[in-house]
Amino acid sequence: MLLVGLPLAVAARPTIEELKARSVLDDYESNVLHGYDIVMDTPRHAPRYSGNRLSCTNCHLAGGTTPDGLPLNVAGLYPRWRAKNGVRNGIGLRIRECFLYSHNGVMPPADAPEVLAVAAYINYLSEGEVIGKPPKHWGVPTLTGTNQDPNPAMGEMVYRRACVSCHAADGSGVGSAPPLWGPASYSAGAGMNNVQKAAGFIWANMPLGAGRSLTQQEALDVAAYLHLQGRPVDPRDGRLRKLAERFVHWLGGLTGRR
Ligand code: HEC
Ligand code: HEC
Repeated sequence: MLLVGLPLAVAARPTIEELKARSVLDDYESNVLHGYDIVMDTPRHAPRYSGNRLSCTNCHLAGGTTPDGLPLNVAGLYPRWRAKNGVRNGIGLRIRECFLYSHNGVMPPADAPEVLAVAAYINYLSEGEVIGKPPKHWGVPTLTGTNQDPNPAMGEMVYRRACVSCHAADGSGVGSAPPLWGPASYSAGAGMNNVQKAAGFIWANMPLGAGRSLTQQEALDVAAYLHLQGRPVDPRDGRLRKLAERFVHWLGGLTGRR
């Protein structure tokens, strides 16, 4: 027998295009395709849970397949403890929280078809990864080449020079470039509102097509500038509490006590 002794060839997973061309799909494959559609166009394919103009792929670049661009081949890392909510998170909870924070929407129930579909797609992307081991170029790079505190005023200059053509002066985005702040963008509770994470993402990937052209300090400065702009409140704070805070602050201003 010729094959004896040869290493088992690992069957390569079919591409999305190959799956789409098939006339018969099993349950897993049709969920993978549905999940892919949601990731590529969230407002269209998951409208009931989406609250802004963003799609997952705006941050998880190229449908979650870009190294250092928040890749989604991470199924083998879950369940995983997370400081943000203080519990072990299954991949389902992780997906549901994105709708709440990054999409400023509604947290879907655990058994929502949209959640199961995205979980199937993430599982598909993770085929071949080692369980428990972070994939190569996981997340975004940690910037070690900055030597000053973030400077938002310098960041504004970076923004005007390198970002405004696609993301617009008011941050609302032009054409396919998504909003970076304002009512149609991610909420203050989203991972992208963390200056260090945003800086790593921007340095590695922005301006789109010219990643790593900014210095790390410029990426940090522009991330700090984005952080200071207005965006939907953190859903954990609640709108009512925020309003009450503003009122108390305003009263304090009137009486001179702060
Ligand atoms: C050539 C156009 C272009 C330029 C210039 C550009 N971006 Fe982007 N940016 C995009 C596109 C398009 C996306 C969405 C990626 C996708 O969907 O594939 C994006 C996504 C983003 C995101 C994540 C999504 C979101 O809405 O928050 C951030 C943050 C971001 N850009 C910041 C910046 C910063 C900061 C600069 C300037 C340093 C910049 N971009 C310059 C086109 C651009
Ligand atoms: C505004 C940008 C943005 C959007 C839109 C977004 N995410 Fe994320 N996502 C992030 C960031 C930043 C992180 C990592 C930081 C963190 O832990 O919060 C992350 C982390 C994740 C993780 C964990 C990845 C890991 O490395 O462990 C998953 C899974 C995920 N997102 C799924 C989604 C899905 C599904 C959608 C669409 C329904 C989505 N995200 C939309 C920014 C975004």
